[in-house]
Amino acid sequence: MCSEPKPTILFTKGEIETTVRRLAGEISRDYRGKYPLLIGVLKGSFMFMADLIRLLDFPLEVEFIRLSSYGKDKESSGKVKVVQGLRSQIKGRDVLVIEDIVDTGLTTAFLLDYLQKKKPASLRLCSLTDKPSRRKAPVIIDYLGFTVPNKFLVGYGLDWNEKFRNLPDIGVLEDEE
Ligand code: PRP
Repeated sequence: MCSEPKPTILFTKGEIETTVRRLAGEISRDYRGKYPLLIGVLKGSFMFMADLIRLLDFPLEVEFIRLSSYGKDKESSGKVKVVQGLRSQIKGRDVLVIEDIVDTGLTTAFLLDYLQKKKPASLRLCSLTDKPSRRKAPVIIDYLGFTVPNKFLVGYGLDWNEKFRNLPDIGVLEDEE
């Protein structure tokens, strides 16, 4: 990878908007009247979460959890840590986890297990993207935006070395090695 990689657009802002709208419709259909707790996984999900919830026109609550499984490069260390925990009780709540990407699945599998132990009434997962070719831990994604190829994604919250989160599109970084 060169020092200043340039992303190639994979999904445009417009394609993302259409997909987020579809997901909001599916979530509204299932959660309207249930007063769910949406838990965004920081940092990557912040932009998706913000766009998604403004399309949900029923009462809900928002929480965030920060996990870390990646170092400052493109490969997962495989070790998941809770960097910032929940402040809300989730026992008895209808919980919907909001992720930007399920890659190896190690982060999400850890998180779902962690949350399930707190005895929510229900626990589901919404992920904007899914990279099934890299899966190491099985994960069921209840609400999925895009299935993506085995490329490194950036933009719309996703980073490479903390850069590119602010891109309005989702791009890929090509390996140049
Ligand atoms: C990313 C992403 C997921 C996780 C998926 O987070 O937001 O939480 O990796 O990877 P996995 O399926 O291989 O476990 P990351 O640890 O990069 O932190 P960030 O969201 O702060 O960028």
